[in-house]
Amino acid sequence: MQIIKTITDIREVIKTWQAAGETVAFVPTMGNLHAGHLQLVRRAKENANRVVVSIFVNPTQFGVGEDFEAYPRTELEDQEKLKKEGADLLFLPSVIDVYSSEANTNITVAGLSEAYCGAFRPGHFSGVATVVCKLFNIVQPNVALFGRKDFQQLTIIKMMVRDLNIPVEIIGVDTVRDPSGLAMSSRNGYLTEDEKKVASMIYYTLGIAREAILAGNENFADIEKKAMQSLSQIGFQPDYFSVCRASDLKKATIEDVNLVLLVAAKLGKTRLIDNLCFSR
Ligand code: PAJ
Repeated sequence: MQIIKTITDIREVIKTWQAAGETVAFVPTMGNLHAGHLQLVRRAKENANRVVVSIFVNPTQFGVGEDFEAYPRTELEDQEKLKKEGADLLFLPSVIDVYSSEANTNITVAGLSEAYCGAFRPGHFSGVATVVCKLFNIVQPNVALFGRKDFQQLTIIKMMVRDLNIPVEIIGVDTVRDPSGLAMSSRNGYLTEDEKKVASMIYYTLGIAREAILAGNENFADIEKKAMQSLSQIGFQPDYFSVCRASDLKKATIEDVNLVLLVAAKLGKTRLIDNLCFSR
């Protein structure tokens, strides 16, 4: 596995691959890799000749008071995991290389970026869209893989690619969970032992709401309210619980068939997000 730190160097390697007619799959990450990230790498290998993974803790997607400084950085362990999975190239750019001091361009997918997580993390999705667009321009992949775990992020990236005619196919990959049902996340490491015991209840609450809808309950507002109440009773501080249309994350109506339940809740100091996609 090649490890490359500069934009100039990665462009050279990608050019050689493209000249040889090889396709490239790209997995952008912020590191501290777990089984969820490695699942994306596995899917990437099935979809192209070459797999590029980036690790870049992107400062512009963290708000004031969020965990940019504390975000877990485990470069050596991450390198070993990626070698084992058979990634071809690990891109580790520096902040100065990615963001020049004169940079004035930002990408915002208006509307969806301000909803759900965006309402609680102002500017977060502009930071995500901007860095992902930049990484796409640097790597120029044929396909890029994103986890369904971050469903709003995945939807925003798909919209950006559509709106800006970026020539890349976006593939969504199912959420990898630990045996308790808790979605794997680099932030799970912040949970105390006691919190870990209740954290999986977020997934359980999603399941209860899905069962209610599949049983014919069409009062989505009531389902949302009840889910928020149960999360609070268990000890979470829920930010939102929403029954949405899967295609564009608008609030679901009774005409919608393909749904996704989106939830974000704090447990102590840790903010967890999860979702459940299904058809009725
Ligand atoms: P990060 O949180 O490191 O996640 C990198 C990718 O792994 C994302 O596509 C995310 O959805 C996916 N992922 C995380 N946990 C997962 C799980 N349990 N199952 C399946 N996939 C999972 O998301 C980001 O980084 C950043 O916002 C990024 C897109 C890299 C832009 O900076």
